[in-house]
Amino acid sequence: MALRKTNLKTKTQVSTPELRVAEVPKKPLTKPYNDIDLNNWKDYSHIKTDTLWEFPNRDKSNGHSYDYHGNYIPQIAQQLYERFTKKGDIVLDMFFGSGTSGIEAVNMQRRCIGVELKQELVDYVSQKFDAKTLVTDVNIICGDSASSDIGYKIQDRLEVMGREKAQFLMLHPPYDDIIKFSDKKEDLSNCATTEEFYDLFEEVARNGYEKLEKGRFAALIIGDKYAKGQYIPLSFGCMERMNRAGFITKAIIVKDIQGNEKAKGKQANLWRYRALYGGFYIFKHEYVMVFQKP
Ligand SMILES: C[S@@+](CC[C@H](N)C(=O)[O-])C[C@H]1O[C@@H](n2cnc3c(N)ncnc32)[C@H](O)[C@@H]1O
Repeated sequence: MALRKTNLKTKTQVSTPELRVAEVPKKPLTKPYNDIDLNNWKDYSHIKTDTLWEFPNRDKSNGHSYDYHGNYIPQIAQQLYERFTKKGDIVLDMFFGSGTSGIEAVNMQRRCIGVELKQELVDYVSQKFDAKTLVTDVNIICGDSASSDIGYKIQDRLEVMGREKAQFLMLHPPYDDIIKFSDKKEDLSNCATTEEFYDLFEEVARNGYEKLEKGRFAALIIGDKYAKGQYIPLSFGCMERMNRAGFITKAIIVKDIQGNEKAKGKQANLWRYRALYGGFYIFKHEYVMVFQKP
């Protein structure tokens, strides 16, 4: 409006209303938690807004590889970071594994703090980043994410990186005991019962909640399991624990896992026989659940 008035000096200087609108750069219309300019919302057709995610193949470019059994496909981070973080923001990943969250943070000019229980994995993943990046952009902590002192260690790294809190929380826990990640008693894949798994997961969720900025988002990537002839909905069990920790649920996304699996070949037939025999169905999906800290 102000620009229009100053331009209206003489009749000859007045351009057509259409031209004047085109000349005035529009102020970006963004949410406080991302860089998406909603004035140009039609330019973001690559960003998913529905609850069924299918990726035909795992992205193995830009530093990513399938070098760790149980790593998530990078496209999940790409979708979530663009939707729920701004450039320079810090993603806190409490189950860092082979570092997918950190690699994608660097690729997308975000930063990351990762917590991982296994020292040998921390050493291996550290080699994926150069020395400077390991201070300024990706900080890896070897520790137990469910422990009461992990918060102090995270806080130290946040201070080094110049932020009070993290801006996004990524949680990709073991799916109970489906893959045993180590022999350590603190490892969530080593719990004696699923109830114990939920309890430890809740501790992690609470630690993450504490370190996340208000109004920001968290994602939980998880699949379900069968045990003793029964379906065990780990996803909904963990979702409930996220809610107990204080998060509100924003989305339950069903993700097709066929693109991230290695070819099963002959085993596929075996599983089909088992399914027919046991009266169950073979998993072709997992969940990406999105939460917000109110
Ligand atoms: C599903 S994997 C995460 C994979 C990771 N998102 C990636 O893309 O490489 C779960 C990881 O959690 C780690 N873990 C298990 N219990 C833990 C705990 N109490 N604290 C920290 N990490 C833990 C395991 O060692 C394993 O690497």
